[in-house]
Order: sequence, then C-alpha cells, then structure tokens
Amino acid sequence: VMFCRLRTHQWCFIIFNIMLFHALLFGGDLLEEYFLHSLPVTYTDMKILKIREKARKLDMDPLKTNMSKSYIISSSEVCSDREVFLLVIVCSSPENNTRRNLIRRTWGNVTGIRGYAVLVLFALGKAASEAIQLDISEESQKHGDIIEGNFLDSFENQTLKTVMSMEWTVTFCSTARFILKTNEEMFVNIPSLAEYLLSLRTHLEDIYFGRVIHQDMPDRDPQSQSFVSLSQYQEEYYPDYCSGTAFVISQDVARKIYIVAKETPVLVPPDVFVGICAKNAGIIPIQSSRFSGKKHIRYNRCCYKFIFTSSEMKDELFKEWKEISDGRDCTLLETYYGLVSCRVLTYFDKFKHFNMETIKNEALHFTN
Ligand SMILES: *[C@@H]1O[C@H](CO)[C@@H](O)[C@H](O)[C@H]1NC(C)=O
Ligand SMILES: *[C@@H]1O[C@H](CO)[C@@H](O)[C@H](O)[C@H]1NC(C)=O
Ligand SMILES: *[C@@H]1O[C@H](CO)[C@@H](O)[C@H](O)[C@H]1NC(C)=O
Ligand SMILES: *[C@@H]1O[C@H](CO)[C@@H](O)[C@H](O)[C@H]1NC(C)=O
Repeated sequence: VMFCRLRTHQWCFIIFNIMLFHALLFGGDLLEEYFLHSLPVTYTDMKILKIREKARKLDMDPLKTNMSKSYIISSSEVCSDREVFLLVIVCSSPENNTRRNLIRRTWGNVTGIRGYAVLVLFALGKAASEAIQLDISEESQKHGDIIEGNFLDSFENQTLKTVMSMEWTVTFCSTARFILKTNEEMFVNIPSLAEYLLSLRTHLEDIYFGRVIHQDMPDRDPQSQSFVSLSQYQEEYYPDYCSGTAFVISQDVARKIYIVAKETPVLVPPDVFVGICAKNAGIIPIQSSRFSGKKHIRYNRCCYKFIFTSSEMKDELFKEWKEISDGRDCTLLETYYGLVSCRVLTYFDKFKHFNMETIKNEALHFTN
C-alpha cells in the first residue's frame, strides 16, 4: 500500500540507488568486457614488431631432446600428440606434497570441459634435500603431472620458475590454446574459466588477462625479502601486470614472453617480470574481476560457481569443492544473490583487515 503512494521523484530516488549499488558492485565486469573486445592494436614500434616476428617463427622441435635434459623431471610426453584446450600450471614448492594432493582431489581433478581437454601440472624447482627429491620422483611416477626445473626452489628463484613454465609450454605443449598460471594456495574454478574461454570467439591472440595491478612500485626497502634495487629496476612504477596468483595467456603470448625473457635479464618478482615481457612484446593486460588476485573470497556456493579464483584457500576446500561440483546449477537469481553477498562480505573482510592493520600501526606508534 505504501509503495502505491510513492511519488515519481521517490521512485526515481529508489531506482537511482539500486542502479548506483549495482554500478559500484559490477561496473568493473562491464568495462572488462569492453576492453577485451577493443583489441587488436596495430604495432608500429620496430622492436615490438621484431619480437612478434621472432615469436611467430619460433621452432622448438630441434631443441626438444636437448631441452628435456635441462629439467630434473621434464614430463615431456604428457602433452604430446594431443590437443589441449587449457593447460594449467600450478607453481608449487617441493615440500608441499599435501597441498598438491588436495588440489588433485579437488579443483585440479578436471580432464576436460565439453570435450575440450584440460591438463593440470605442477611446476617445481629442485628440492633442498635428497629425501624430498626422492619423494618427488615417486610422486611424479604415480601422478605424471610434475615438471621440475634444474634450479633451487627458493623465494628468489620464483621468476626462474615462471620462465621455465613458459619454456616448457612452448617446447612440450605448443598445441595448448590457453595457459593458466597459478599457485598452490589458490582455488581455481576450471569449469567456469574454461566456459568463459570457450565463449571468446574473436581475437584469440594476445590474450593476457587476470587481476591487473596498476601503478605498482618496486619494493625499495633493503631489509625486505622482495627488495628490488635501482640497478635491478630503474623506473618508479612497474608497467601494468596481472597478479601472479592466477592469469591466463594464449599460446602466442607464451612464445612472445619466452622470446623477450631470453633478452630481458631483470630480477623482479615473477608476475612483474611477465608484465614487463608482455609490454615489450606489445601485449596489454586485460582486467577481469572474476579473478580474485590476493583476496580470499568468502565462500558461497553460487558465487564460487561463477568466479574464476580465490586466494588463501584453507584445507576445508574439500568440503566446499564437493558442494560446488555436485552438479546442481544455480539459477540466475541465486547467482545474482551469491555474487552480491560474497562481494559485500569480501569488501567487509578487506575493511576489517585494513582496520586491524591501522589499529596495529597506531598502537606501534603509540608505544614508540
Ligand atoms: C644438443 O646438445 C649437444 C651437446 O650439448 C649439441 O652438440 C647439439 O648441437 C645440440 N642440439 C641442438 C639441436 O641444439
Ligand atoms: C576425480 O574425479 C573422479 C570422478 O569424477 C573420481 O572417480 C576420482 O577418484 C577423482 N580423483 C581423485 C584423485 O580424487
Ligand atoms: C637459484 O638457483 C640457482 C641454480 O640452482 C642457484 O645456484 C641459486 O643459488 C639459486 N638462488 C637462490 C637465491 O636460491
Ligand atoms: C603448503 O601450501 C599451503 C598453501 O599455500 C601453505 O599454507 C603452506 O604453508 C605450505 N606448506 C609448505 C611446507 O610449504
């Protein structure tokens, strides 16, 4: 009865608020779509053109035998003679066998979507101890999904691991149409990501998308583990890059990055390195808000069926995975409600986190 009595301007106000709420919550998604379709760009820079030409002509076939010798475990056959639609490379640490098993039993247990093959592999560096190395060899024989590079798996060597992933892809899996690079702390919804990739009909080249980090600055604190000195990187800002938690590239981008990486010996974090290589090859990162970046998205079944990733997944992943993959679809309304609720709750978490940090800093200030 009350609704009937509302005046026009009151209705306008309500509708305006509903629209504002949705624009704030979902505006990013719409822009992202727009940018993905505004490609491709024409390149005039000679350096970029040369790199792209080199990438097009790249032939790894003669190098295959030699290449497989430079890995401790090369798994060089897992991708040969098959059409892979989506290759998923999960960067993992040698010790973290429990985590890999959890992924194998949950989100990583996908071999195809609608007849398109999906392949999930783990990328490791060399283990620090002989005992762990033996475990890894055993694990590799059992599951056949491990790539182990010939470098020590340390914090500083993570960029090497990313470069290795690119090298492995262009050498041993050159038929993979898309490559998702992620790491072991993530939850990835492969079906929803693959469905999205299948829906892209045009511009299947130069794809580099994920959660874009804009105007990030190098860590100039000499005490920090991720310290980047001026000699390592001179400029004030990094170019835009996709968060290393999870991003997708197309095969041609893997080739371009591989070509540039050989000529760009910079010591920066792995995701920044990919961003620098992409920029030098004339590739623009594309933002997708369905990637979480470093955020943990609060669990909600219908929300998790829609998003691509969430960070900091705990071990209860198994229970949640069963619920997500039980085959029950979400209606449009349920998805809508799920998205609104998990987005609002995630903002709330971020806000709480932010406030806790501020309180802690204030307290430190006070005690000092
Ligand atoms: C492979 O390595 C050997 C020795 O390191 C070298 O002689 C040979 O030319 C290499 N083959 C290719 C195709 O590069
Ligand atoms: C993967 O899923 C299939 C059923 O889809 C199941 O039979 C199999 O045991 C699962 N694998 C693992 C390692 O849990
Ligand atoms: C990176 O790997 C190389 C090759 O194994 C090794 O010599 C080097 O010490 C590693 N760097 C760090 C910082 O662990
Ligand atoms: C294994 O991975 C999980 C998730 O990223 C992490 O929380 C844990 O600390 C890791 N454990 C080791 C031994 O690296």
